Amino acid sequence: MTSVRAKAAQIIHQVTHKHIPLKLEDSLLSPQDRALLQELVLGTLRYYIKLNAITAALSQNPKSVSGTLLESLIACGLYQLLYTEIPAYAVVNETVNAARELKLGSCTGFINAVLHKVCSEDTDAEKFVLKEHEIFAYPKWLFKRIKKNYPKNYREVLSGGNEKPSMWLRVDLNRISLADYIEMLKKENIDICRTLEPSGICLSKTCPPSMLPGISQGLCYIQDASAQLAVTYMAPKENERILDACAAPGGKTIHIIESTKGNADVTAVDIHPQRLERLRENLKIRGINLTIIQGSAADPDKWWDGKPFDRILLDAPCSGTGVIRRHPDIKFVRKEKDISELIELQMNMLEALWKLLKHGGTLMYTTCSILKEENQIQINNFLYIHRDDAELEEIPESQHLPSDDGRDGFFYAKIRKK
Ligand SMILES: C[S@@+](CC[C@H](N)C(=O)[O-])C[C@H]1O[C@@H](n2cnc3c(N)ncnc32)[C@H](O)[C@@H]1O
Repeated sequence: MTSVRAKAAQIIHQVTHKHIPLKLEDSLLSPQDRALLQELVLGTLRYYIKLNAITAALSQNPKSVSGTLLESLIACGLYQLLYTEIPAYAVVNETVNAARELKLGSCTGFINAVLHKVCSEDTDAEKFVLKEHEIFAYPKWLFKRIKKNYPKNYREVLSGGNEKPSMWLRVDLNRISLADYIEMLKKENIDICRTLEPSGICLSKTCPPSMLPGISQGLCYIQDASAQLAVTYMAPKENERILDACAAPGGKTIHIIESTKGNADVTAVDIHPQRLERLRENLKIRGINLTIIQGSAADPDKWWDGKPFDRILLDAPCSGTGVIRRHPDIKFVRKEKDISELIELQMNMLEALWKLLKHGGTLMYTTCSILKEENQIQINNFLYIHRDDAELEEIPESQHLPSDDGRDGFFYAKIRKK
């Protein structure tokens, strides 16, 4: 059987050099090994660009290491030395053993040398003469964009994206009160650190979803507080006709249904069949029935029945730059050219869905992005084009940054049709 470190190096390599989105399911591992694998992979990916620059600085021939599985294995070792409490001797031994498993036995001298050097060196940035984007461990293009977006506080914003995220739950208040669910968690020895009215709970430590009481019956849903606020700010009402235009896997659809006590006429649309399958499963365990459509939010002529909606949620596909700490593979999978394509798609969706909204109705536009070009600039352009029939409704916040208080980065704009 492959060791956890060897497995981690292989997964990291797939993401960093083959640009394949991260998949961490491995049912063959014990729960402890699964937790270790997750820690090593997510942690190494968060800091990969920095760790890699350190390896290059310590290597006599950086080009020979660049892009190899060896590079990923060493980055994983460096992550453990610099960011975890795992003793250095264990890190070095396990990394060398993993190298042999991965048929990199001829490189053990180099691995030993790099890891020992970092153990004994002062590892601050100046020592290794790293570039600023390497210090913050972001690809250069994304570093530049974030710096341009946040010239005064970009350091905090970038560091916020490297933090370990908290695990948040949303409780179905139609079935249990927040206090009673917290009691259920206590009985399972799961501690909480804060709550978000009316239905959010933040756990002190992340835990495997299967340990959460009632999760398989839909008593709670794992969802960051920022995502929960999208529906809170949207404020859907009973008896309304509501469209969730990019709905899968259904976190916000279910929240809309819970908030309206199942008494709203909700339509859920998404373009991806597999993601819609997850939405169907999430609805099924809760016994929820609603209209589900596979189609494009940018092309409603293909699926709309012509009856206008009171409320529309457009939780748009985006760069995901507000949730990079949850999905550090974004740093490697996302490319700069994706951003302009996403901006165009978001605008096409806004325009297409606007026609489906009743006069007096509201469209809630949200993204888990921190880039103004997908958010404030996008909405300002829309409001300018629609200055005759659209106005912004006030909500408690528009742009949330992970560096603000640990919630995910999120953008919210509620637009009323005059
Ligand atoms: C941010 S996610 C939605 C998350 C979802 N609202 C939730 O809370 O669980 C964006 C979604 O947009 C979908 N999507 C991408 N392009 C689309 C399109 N042209 N039309 C409809 N959905 C699209 C993706 O499949 C993805 O599920």
